Amino acid sequence: MSKAKTRSIGILTAGGDCPGLNAAIRSIGKAALGTHGIEVVGISAGFYGLITNQTRRLRESDFSGILTQGGTILGSSREKPFAEKDDDALSGHKPEMIRENYDKLHLDCLVCIGGNGTQTTAWRLSQMGLNVMGLPKTIDNDLAETDFCFGFYSAVDVCTEAIDRLHTTAHSHNRIMVLETMGHKAGWLALYSGVAGGGDVILIPELPYSPEKIAEHLIDRARKGKQFSIVVVAEGAKSVKEAGSKTKMKIKGSKPSAGYRVAAEIEKLTRMETRVTVLGYLQRGGIPSPMDRALATAMGTEAVKLMIAGEYNRMASMKAGEITSVPLEAVAGKTRKVPAGHPLIESARMVGTCLGD
Ligand code: F6P
Repeated sequence: MSKAKTRSIGILTAGGDCPGLNAAIRSIGKAALGTHGIEVVGISAGFYGLITNQTRRLRESDFSGILTQGGTILGSSREKPFAEKDDDALSGHKPEMIRENYDKLHLDCLVCIGGNGTQTTAWRLSQMGLNVMGLPKTIDNDLAETDFCFGFYSAVDVCTEAIDRLHTTAHSHNRIMVLETMGHKAGWLALYSGVAGGGDVILIPELPYSPEKIAEHLIDRARKGKQFSIVVVAEGAKSVKEAGSKTKMKIKGSKPSAGYRVAAEIEKLTRMETRVTVLGYLQRGGIPSPMDRALATAMGTEAVKLMIAGEYNRMASMKAGEITSVPLEAVAGKTRKVPAGHPLIESARMVGTCLGD
């Protein structure tokens, strides 16, 4: 363990935004500057702001009144300083520029609040000799070595409310309502909100689906008098055929998204009237839920505790209900998917939910 004393830190938020980022910034700011007198530098727009030195010294007043605010007061970007294919004129020089600005700012540690890409970049910076600290945020909840990431609970709330609202209109019109959620390549958001909202079918990328099995389930429900159904589809969901196909799925925008593909199959096989709702960025916007505020605050103070102790290159994490931390090396480059034996999958099956497999 290093004996270094942390006197000055930088904070950045990178990747897609989510509710709880400001709660985390506030937590780190209040604990570091307010309680321990550590200087805090805010870096604008993720790693882009560190490459271009868009930074400012944050004051205690910057951390007031932001706990409940969505988005991030620092701004974010999807800048990937180590990207190999990068048309930018600065390409190839970005890691060095980050190191120069880190030194110029006299930082003892760089706090990187973000998802998979951000934590991987943070780890690579640690390999260059920078001290870094990670905080896991993403509505996708797909970071390795943590059971939950902040942002996820708020997104589950939004998706669940959408399912509740779709239920009443589905019932009135005897329709099949397909709801497409985000989640990237993982099914956490669709699974949690689908179970919470009582989805009749839940499709996640981890379990390739058979359109025939979905149709069978919907027809069976109709025979039993339930003429409407809710189908929750994760954006990364694939049919067995798509999952087995050697040709990579076409990039976003060039083919209908998962919700539309599933809806087309359902209409073809069941002849039931089907409608699609793609929730999109509504899932990432707005105020953080109480759980996300608490999680972001607890993870923020965990990071400050580590930095005070001179322990770097770790990510705050939640494991089995406890706030702890893990080495960044164990997180970098990994994606945490829903395991086939996850208890919520079992619960969904036991209450009669079709998972399409
Ligand atoms: O990482 C969160 C996420 O919301 C994913 O679920 C989604 O695929 C992606 O970001 C889209 O975000 P953007 O358009 O900002 O790249």
